[in-house]
Amino acid sequence: MNGGARLAGEVRVVGAKNSVLKLMAAALLAEGTTTLTNCPEILDVPLMADVLCSLGCEVDVQASTVTIVAPATLRNEADYRSVSRLRASVCVLGPLVARCRRAVVPLPGGDAIGSRPLDMHANGLRKLGAHTEISHGRVVADAEDLHGAQIWLDFPSVGATENILMAAVLADGTTVIDNAAREPEIVDLCTMLQQMGAKIEGSGTSTLTVHGVTALQPTEHRVIGDRIVGATWAFAAVMTRGEITVQGVDPHHIDLVLDKLRSAGADVSTAIDGFSVAMRGRAEAVDFVTLPYPGFATDLQPMAIALSAVAEGTSMITENVFEARFRFVDEMVRLGADARTDGHHAVVRGVERLSSAPVWASDIRAGAGLVLAGLCADGTTEVWDVEHIDRGYPRFVENLRALGADVARVAAEPER
Ligand code: UD1
Repeated sequence: MNGGARLAGEVRVVGAKNSVLKLMAAALLAEGTTTLTNCPEILDVPLMADVLCSLGCEVDVQASTVTIVAPATLRNEADYRSVSRLRASVCVLGPLVARCRRAVVPLPGGDAIGSRPLDMHANGLRKLGAHTEISHGRVVADAEDLHGAQIWLDFPSVGATENILMAAVLADGTTVIDNAAREPEIVDLCTMLQQMGAKIEGSGTSTLTVHGVTALQPTEHRVIGDRIVGATWAFAAVMTRGEITVQGVDPHHIDLVLDKLRSAGADVSTAIDGFSVAMRGRAEAVDFVTLPYPGFATDLQPMAIALSAVAEGTSMITENVFEARFRFVDEMVRLGADARTDGHHAVVRGVERLSSAPVWASDIRAGAGLVLAGLCADGTTEVWDVEHIDRGYPRFVENLRALGADVARVAAEPER
């Protein structure tokens, strides 16, 4: 891509990656046909479909609609090859224990953003009465009966909250999950489970109370818009001194992000299902601290660093969720950023312009952050391993081009 273009126009954001994959897993909880609409057309959706098929479901993915037919009797062992390609596939654990009283799920393996243990998932299932072991590269959970329990999470883990919630909806009695995650994607999951007949109180708060029921019914559900993708476009507007209107995202899901961008000097206006961000001059430096929702999302940390790299002044970015995410900073330095890290902190002194270089995307969000940085760099920047970006940003290059970016996708990979 060639830097320098001011991005302007409208972009429509579709359903959230971090919601749809969990909703697909939730379909396991009820025999019959569940339909999800507004699904993003990203590779993770067919990968998750493969995981569900390995458990005995029939899954049809047609553009933005996914139809899942769950059988009366599920297979309780997920296939290693399907699971290993998709980290989020661990969220079949809770539904499988709930329906089959036994689940065997291979560990999906490492991730470029830091270690992702499953201890809180396992401890929660143990409290519900499932004998749970992580050994030989897989999680095995066995339960004669699942019963309600009081569960305190050490940290409001998104994945652990989802797995425990999806097991508790079919457990006998009442479960209380304290210090639960409050992300909008958890609320979306609660909404779908409630439509299926689950009895859940406290959705969107840090205490979820679940009264177990004996069976759930399949449903039809529209996936919420992707707040991380929407916020990425907001950063793009500010960094390129442009003006972008985003549709399809509830602006309240990114209240804090939009407030930060206002502090950086942006004009922000919101509507029911979207927002507009306009930037006249150079952004002023602001500090960012990543935290579980409603804090600043760790998934947006690369965008925060990319913005700070071209802002006026010095920013401190603190990462509290995934320790290895600062690897991204090395790639930003290749683009001319004045940045260094120390433990959980990165200090970034803004420069007038970044300078082009070949850089590598190590994960979805780092990839998007590098593209935003490349849009503010002199010369031609090449971002490699962009298939990471495809996993979270449907039609990313097409959307960028429609907004006026000078960007193209090329096939060849260089020698590393
Ligand atoms: C989800 C999102 C990811 C996002 C993250 C935090 C999906 C598919 N992915 O990941 O994009 O960055 O939330 O918002 O939805 N932890 C433990 N033990 C556990 C579970 C988690 O120590 O049993 C730690 C993790 O190492 C991490 C922190 O808790 O440091 C948060 O992880 P978690 O919220 O579980 O993230 P994911 O659900 O994996």
